[in-house]
Amino acid sequence: MRKLLIVLGVCVAVTVGSSSVAVAGLEEGFAAYKRGDYATALKEFRALASEGDAVATVAQANLGMMYENGHGVTQDYKEAANWYRKAAEQGCARSVRRQTMEPVINTLHDQHQRMFRLLDALESEIDAFDTGNALDFYIIDGILEYIETYPDRFHRPTESSVYQAMRRRLAGAEAAPIERIESEHGGLGAAVRALRNAVDANTRTVMFPRAFLVKKARDVIHGFRRHMTTEEERIFPLAREILSAEELEGIAFRNGGALADDEEEEEQRFDTLYRTIGRQVEIGLGASGT
Ligand SMILES: [Fe+2]
Ligand SMILES: [Fe+2]
Repeated sequence: MRKLLIVLGVCVAVTVGSSSVAVAGLEEGFAAYKRGDYATALKEFRALASEGDAVATVAQANLGMMYENGHGVTQDYKEAANWYRKAAEQGCARSVRRQTMEPVINTLHDQHQRMFRLLDALESEIDAFDTGNALDFYIIDGILEYIETYPDRFHRPTESSVYQAMRRRLAGAEAAPIERIESEHGGLGAAVRALRNAVDANTRTVMFPRAFLVKKARDVIHGFRRHMTTEEERIFPLAREILSAEELEGIAFRNGGALADDEEEEEQRFDTLYRTIGRQVEIGLGASGT
């Protein structure tokens, strides 16, 4: 009996209790895939896909990914989705959670709603600060921590997969809005980081003029709102239009399935942070607490 963690971009599974032969086959398939020998990888994964245990789940997910990318086979999103579904049914639990309950664009939309609510909360704190109140460091830092870190870790990887798929479909000028929106991500992250540092320094060492912090904060709020509004109003509707349901399913599977345990824990931590901020500043947490 062997315990092995297999990560091939699409599925994480601990194959406890699987036969050594099956696990060895999976390892061989994995090694073949990594060196670009897709024929061998396909042969190994196909042979294991009907095993009916954790090894089969990984093999199925990997077959899904090979069909999705056209590696060693003709690219076929339907076939990819079939394999992903099989893997999800057999116990890629995290993928089941994301794939069947939350279509990928809905997940991105829900994450935006949380961000919009946090920006509202930040704005009312900044309004109060602007009219002479003291800065509530813990609330502001909590909001900024969420806004700085959560999108990078849990939102943009999925969003980037959607945009990458869109860019494959759109030619020349048509792809320009996607490239533009993607190019904003780095600047948004840098702006919120700079604001967080300034707020932190203001509390401990340097006192910045109130108007300076207020302006920096308003710029961050405005930048994030504008970015997400463009995504909600223009980019996401286009994604639903040009990407097939199977393709979106594949993206949801890959991003949901690739979460390692420590990442799940961290996502949970952000959920708690969001709820704590929600209670402190009395922002509506949204329907069903989201
Ligand atoms: Fe974005
Ligand atoms: Fe977004």
